[in-house]
Amino acid sequence: MMDGTAPMDWRAEGKRLGIPAPIAMLAELTHRCPLSCPYCSNPMELAQRSRELETENWVRVFQEAAELGVLQLHLSGGEPASRRDLEDLVVAARKAGLYTNLITSGIGLTERRLAALDEAGLDHVQLSLQGTDAGMADRVGGYKGGFKRKMQVAEWIGKIGFPLTLNAVVHRQNLHQLPDAIDMALEMGARRIEVAIVQFHGWAMVNRDALMPTKEQAEEASRVVAEARERLKGRLVLDYVPADYHSDYPKRCMGGWGTTGLNVAPDGEVLPCHAAQTIQSLSFDNVRDKGLAEIWYRGAAFNAYRGFDWMQEPCKSCPRKAHDFGGCRCQAMALAGDPAATDPVCVKSPLHADLQARAQQFSHAPDAELTYRGQPGK
Ligand code: SF4
Ligand code: FES
Repeated sequence: MMDGTAPMDWRAEGKRLGIPAPIAMLAELTHRCPLSCPYCSNPMELAQRSRELETENWVRVFQEAAELGVLQLHLSGGEPASRRDLEDLVVAARKAGLYTNLITSGIGLTERRLAALDEAGLDHVQLSLQGTDAGMADRVGGYKGGFKRKMQVAEWIGKIGFPLTLNAVVHRQNLHQLPDAIDMALEMGARRIEVAIVQFHGWAMVNRDALMPTKEQAEEASRVVAEARERLKGRLVLDYVPADYHSDYPKRCMGGWGTTGLNVAPDGEVLPCHAAQTIQSLSFDNVRDKGLAEIWYRGAAFNAYRGFDWMQEPCKSCPRKAHDFGGCRCQAMALAGDPAATDPVCVKSPLHADLQARAQQFSHAPDAELTYRGQPGK
């Protein structure tokens, strides 16, 4: 070093602090997107195009992520294909030694572009599904002709031979199509389908009335998934995110805050989860100012809810705390107004009964109109 100080050994620092290295990084390359899904979990205020990280910054971040211990890189958005430099970013990520997964709606991808991504070394594609027919998919995605284009893209993906995961966000309006979505994954040759019942973060909150599944639908979805898991063992892997408003225990969000993964927003802010900016008491570091390792190990936002010291009762003395870390901090913020509160999904939360009653109410709201997501500014 120019000033004579040795470079920081972040792995040793992690061991000293008892903080594991992250395994996965979600790079939100842009918030721009041709679709305008009402269930979008991106923040209410999207990052403007002019604030997006430049190619060279992303390249540096990928190198730093690999040095930090990250193995899997999820390239996401918005629609990552809206970035003209996507192929260059894949090359850089592969050069850094990262496994690359493209999370896409497929809209904006051509056969030529997919071939270029293959050439660049892209490892895996995750394709979103808004519905299993044009009527549903185009209505939910707010994009006429989107379904037809997506099916074409799926065919090209199969032709090139990318390993494929189908990602179906399901809600009150399309849950009846879940068995078809599973069949579709098989027909497309997907190795995995991720069935996620809509989570209410970011823009999705605006559409809670229109999207909240009924308790019966949520139970039926769990039954369909369990049956398909048994029937399709060895052929198709089913990942499942249940409807937590109707559950008695919360999910272990992000595998535990600051434990296994991190997100980098389009403008370079580094977040412990995609909805963390809803917690206004937190301040986030930016990769433009600091290295990723320093942010992961020492960043105030990452350390705010690591481990158990921040917990209140009933989580503090609960035997399940090492299992779910008290649920989702962003949901605690949204529903209890306190990010350190027990996630109100939990049966031990004083707000649980009220939440379940409200979930019932939302799920029986007379069919509310879908409010579509807008685009970020220039
Ligand atoms: Fe999890 Fe807290 Fe509920 Fe215990 S009280 S189950 S730790 S959310
Ligand atoms: Fe932020 Fe769950 S979405 S902790």
